[in-house]
Amino acid sequence: MIELAERHTFKLPAKCRTLIELNTSDEVEQLAFEEPYYLLGEGSNTLFLEDFQGTVVCNRLLGVCIEELETSFLVTAAAGENWHNFVTDLRARNIDGMENLALIPGSVGAAPVQNIGAYGVEVATFIEQVTAWDISEKCWVSMSTEDCQFAYRDSLFKQHPGRWLITSVTFRLPKDWRPVTHYSPLNQLSDNASAQSIFDKVIEVRQKKLPDPKVIPNAGSFFKNPVVSNALLESLLQKWPDIVYFPADESRSKVAAGWLIEHLGLKSLNEGDAAVNPNQALVLINRARATGADVSRLAQKIMKHVKEASGIELEPEVRLVGQHGLVQLAAEK
Ligand code: EPU
Repeated sequence: MIELAERHTFKLPAKCRTLIELNTSDEVEQLAFEEPYYLLGEGSNTLFLEDFQGTVVCNRLLGVCIEELETSFLVTAAAGENWHNFVTDLRARNIDGMENLALIPGSVGAAPVQNIGAYGVEVATFIEQVTAWDISEKCWVSMSTEDCQFAYRDSLFKQHPGRWLITSVTFRLPKDWRPVTHYSPLNQLSDNASAQSIFDKVIEVRQKKLPDPKVIPNAGSFFKNPVVSNALLESLLQKWPDIVYFPADESRSKVAAGWLIEHLGLKSLNEGDAAVNPNQALVLINRARATGADVSRLAQKIMKHVKEASGIELEPEVRLVGQHGLVQLAAEK
């Protein structure tokens, strides 16, 4: 069995039967393994809750290619590139657009799966094409933005886990760049803030609120921000006039789950060494020796309290892997 603690940022004790590291496209085409298997990037959004009785496939493909066109840059990055290094490199070349997405842990290949987003920007806005190996059909596929079915922290890849192994992502970054500063606390910056000042601010805020996974193991937001009907929101506003929410579409709003968790006094909860992050309650942390069972119990407890107090069913944003593959958590009964 192969140790996985160092291969996912929550660092839970877990092993897998086999591990394959992919370094070239040829290796991708020759991939052969049995079920169950799990596709892993840098492990910043996956928790291995217990020993996984299967194969973990780690994508280590590297390389970035930048093409300057008349009105935009077309940038293709291999899936194994580190996301923040990629964003930093674009910044250094004065290619603007990604600055709001600085310091997000993980790899380029994981970005479309989750449709990573922060401070008012989602990566889908810039994705032109995703190249992937279709594991069941054994062929290469190129997917357009529409094909990828992006939504809030969601995509075709997340809906069909294990079907496609993303090998590279092509981004289109228009030269006609506008700063996105409506999201707090970027709204403290001026309306014509530079991309560099946004990049710096995002890094400052993330470092202040979100624990560095290298120091305190975590996987970023543990839950999604729930999207609720405006009717439910109205009733919540009666009870909690300060509740933080954002309009999602005409009839629904996205509620800040971190606010709910903090407001319901759940920040002090813990199960063994699994605890709620004190500076941003949407993040769960491993204080030292948490186990998968501790994390599951803590998450289920939070889900139960939130459900009882608000009627909202929180949904994990992270992916949880058990003995045989992905597992779903239900609120504690
Ligand atoms: N809030 C609280 N208490 C908390 C946490 C948040 O009151 O403990 C309030 C904040 O004061 C703020 C609101 O809730 O008014 C939203 O908080 P924040 O801006 O920190 O962002 P979030 O909605 O909790 C989302 C993403 C993060 C991303 C931030 C910033 C999800 C699931 N999470 O969190 O993404 O960095 O916005 O854009 O959408 C991740 O996906 O791993 C991640 C960290």
